[in-house]
Parts: sequence; C-alpha cells; structure tokens
Amino acid sequence: MNIILLGPPGAGKGTQATRLVKERNMVQLSTGDMLRAEKNAGTPLGDRIKAVMDAGELVSDEIVTQLIDDRLAGLAPEQGVIFDGYPRTLAQAQSLDALLDARDRTLDYVVELEVDEEALVKRITGRFECVACGALYNDNYKQPIKADTCDVCGSHEFKRRADDNEEAVRTRMAEYRAKTAPILPHYEAKGIVRRVDGMASVETVSKGIDAVLDG
Ligand code: AP5
Repeated sequence: MNIILLGPPGAGKGTQATRLVKERNMVQLSTGDMLRAEKNAGTPLGDRIKAVMDAGELVSDEIVTQLIDDRLAGLAPEQGVIFDGYPRTLAQAQSLDALLDARDRTLDYVVELEVDEEALVKRITGRFECVACGALYNDNYKQPIKADTCDVCGSHEFKRRADDNEEAVRTRMAEYRAKTAPILPHYEAKGIVRRVDGMASVETVSKGIDAVLDG
C-alpha cells in the first residue's frame, strides 16, 4: 500500500507515519527529514536550502522530487510507502504520479488530517525531540515520563527545529494554504482522498487512519 499523509505543519503527519512504520512495516519518506539531514550535514545542497527552510518557505520542486526518486529507486517493489510532506505543490503531485507509474506503483489513499491552524501553532512551538533516537515530545501534550530523559532510549539530549518559531510557523502555514491545499482536487478526481480529524488525541487519530487503510 502507498499513501500520502497530507496536512499543514504540526498536523501530526510525522507522528502517524512513525507509528505506521512500526505497526505496518511501511517505509516513511519524509522530504522534511531528508532536507534536514542535508542541512545538518552541511552538504552543498544543505547549505543552499538552509535559509529557505529556516524561513519556512518551500524548497524547489526539482530538489525534493529528486530526493524522492532516489529513495524510491532503493526500495523493493512490494515495500509500502508513506509519503510525509511530499507532494507539496501541484508540480510535485504530477511528478509523483510519473515516478509511481514508472515503477508500477499505485497510490491507494491520500489521508488529509483536518486541523485547526491556531491550535497547531501551540503544538509546533512546543515540539522537541530526542537527539539520539528522534522520539517526539511536546511541552504541552507529551513530556518525557522522567524529566530530561527520553522514554524510548534514555538519552538526556533533546533538540528543537530551527523553523519551529512562531514567525516561521506562520510562513509555513501560509505556504500550505497557497501551494499545498490546492493539490487536493488532483487527488479528489482520482477518488482516493479520505479525511481524518487531526485535532483528536494521537490514539484517536491513529484509529481513524487505521479505519481508512483497513476499510
Ligand atoms: P516538514 O518537516 O515536512 O514539516 P511540516 O510539514 O511543516 O510538518 P511538521 O513536521 O512540522 O509537522 P507534522 O505534521 O509532521 O507534525 P508532527 O507529527 O511532528 O517540512 C519542513 C520544511 O522542509 C518545509 O517548511 C520546507 O521548507 C521543506 N520541505 C519539506 N518537504 C518539502 C517539499 N515537498 N517541497 C518543498 N519544500 C519542502 O506533530 C507536531 C507536534 O504535535 C509534535 O510535538 C507531536 O508530538 C504533536 N502531536 C501530533 N499529533 C498530535 C495530536 N493528535 N494531539 C496532540 N499533539 C499531537
């Protein structure tokens, strides 16, 4: 099964993708994670995109599509994929159609997480993660059980994203409204869009997505 998780910044795409990877043996292809890895490694590409990402704007379609193409090329044909944060423009959606066609892959569902943008600002500015294992936490919703200690791996080091400040978050939301939400009709026409309430608890959102995938 191949799916897209769609929703504005902080909608819970990464949270749900991580869970699906564990529970359904799918692969998460997050262009945000790939771009951050380039940025943090200080590669020539990373240096080029740093300012764009930190400001909350979109990186070019060519760069992200190349990253996705490279990752898809390394996967076994039967391996299910969760596209997280890609596509984000109509041009990317059209490129993804071509990439999937070329590999005889079918897109089964586009799961849109429906959310309230103001609440998302609180979610995102409270977000932090474990440096060692990437487990996600939140000042407002999910603190580690033991203060300053990762529940998953016991590490004491945490980090916050450079674009998780209010100004960049507002830009990211505006980019989503202007460039990403308009790709929905492309998938509506294929009859594969399903909507899940992203404002419910993580567990309830998970159940909603499972109902779509198993339905
Ligand atoms: P990217 O990394 O994709 O970020 P994003 O889309 O802004 O999404 P986030 O990762 O912020 O949110 P999420 O929906 O994954 O939520 P999460 O699960 O973390 O992109 C970053 C940047 O990279 C872009 O701005 C752009 O510059 C560039 N980029 C990436 N892809 C690109 C592309 N295709 N084209 C061009 N440029 C691209 O959850 C957020 C928080 O809420 C967490 O703390 C979590 O614990 C909490 N939470 C999650 N679900 C719930 C819930 N149900 N209830 C309460 N709390 C919850």
